[in-house]
Amino acid sequence: MILVIGATAHFGRQTVEALAGAGRQVRALSREPERAGLPEGVEVVRGDLTDPVSLGPALDGVTELFLVLPHGLDARPLLDRAGEAGVRQIVFLSSGAVVDGADRQPDVIAAYHAGVEQEIRAMGVDWTFLRLFFPAINSLAWAMQLQGGDTVRGPHAAAAASVVHERDVAEAAAAVLGATGHSGRVYELTGPQSLTQTEQLDLLGRALDRELRFEEVPQETVRQQLSRFMDADFVAALLDLMVATTGKPAPVNDTVEHLTGHPPRPYAQWAADHAADFH
Ligand SMILES: NC(=O)c1ccc[n+]([C@@H]2O[C@H](COP(=O)([O-])OP(=O)(O)OC[C@H]3O[C@@H](n4cnc5c(N)ncnc54)[C@H](OP(=O)(O)O)[C@@H]3O)[C@@H](O)[C@H]2O)c1
Repeated sequence: MILVIGATAHFGRQTVEALAGAGRQVRALSREPERAGLPEGVEVVRGDLTDPVSLGPALDGVTELFLVLPHGLDARPLLDRAGEAGVRQIVFLSSGAVVDGADRQPDVIAAYHAGVEQEIRAMGVDWTFLRLFFPAINSLAWAMQLQGGDTVRGPHAAAAASVVHERDVAEAAAAVLGATGHSGRVYELTGPQSLTQTEQLDLLGRALDRELRFEEVPQETVRQQLSRFMDADFVAALLDLMVATTGKPAPVNDTVEHLTGHPPRPYAQWAADHAADFH
């Protein structure tokens, strides 16, 4: 039995759907199973990662775990319970910001994911880490602005990313879960091409049949705005990543194709799939 954590959000939901569609035995964890809206036949079990006792029923009989964690959440209680329950394989959705072998990770995003990776490595289970930089879902941050007009105001228009569709991430996870040959492997997942934010917005505009415009806002203005409701170190990490990716194309690799058997979906496909989110 495969247990998916984070099963009601972007990556986990698509992974549950991919596994269920392939006829695999999959269970989803949610704090509110009645609102999960997962496909019929998927077992949804109530549990809260901050309440370890609640995880017992979800982990019963589980041999593989797909782990998508909300940023900063302490994974220790879950990992302890998973070890006790006899989980043999953990696939963790990690971050491309992690620097292997560094004494000190470059930012809080990298540090958090590196810490969870280390905890999983120490468990003695089969582990595989899927690392991402910028998933295409990050464009959903533009939705509110685009529901009110055709301009996106944000920092670093020229920041580039090889944005990856969440369905490709899910299919890669589904291919690794329960399979042999992936233990101890770190896979960096990318989309098929490097795109700046301006280029992404242009492709999104074509999918929406609208002419969209990116208006550059100084980084400090954005830092102040975001820090009102997000952790300041997390905001700093996001902005630093954008600076680091400005003016040079993001790496593209064939890992998605290697794992799933098909090329990664282009951003234009993602935009078409998500057009309704921007109206
Ligand atoms: N966005 C990026 O740039 C990026 C890049 C690299 C990696 N990632 C990875 O992707 C993650 C985000 O994935 P996402 O957007 O799909 O999910 P998300 O929106 O960050 O998290 C929401 C999911 O977590 C579950 N959840 C939250 N708190 C929980 C708790 N206390 N107990 C049990 N479940 C809980 C929710 O389930 P219920 O509400 O149903 O309980 C929901 O399924 C990041 O944290 C990071 O690890 C993101």
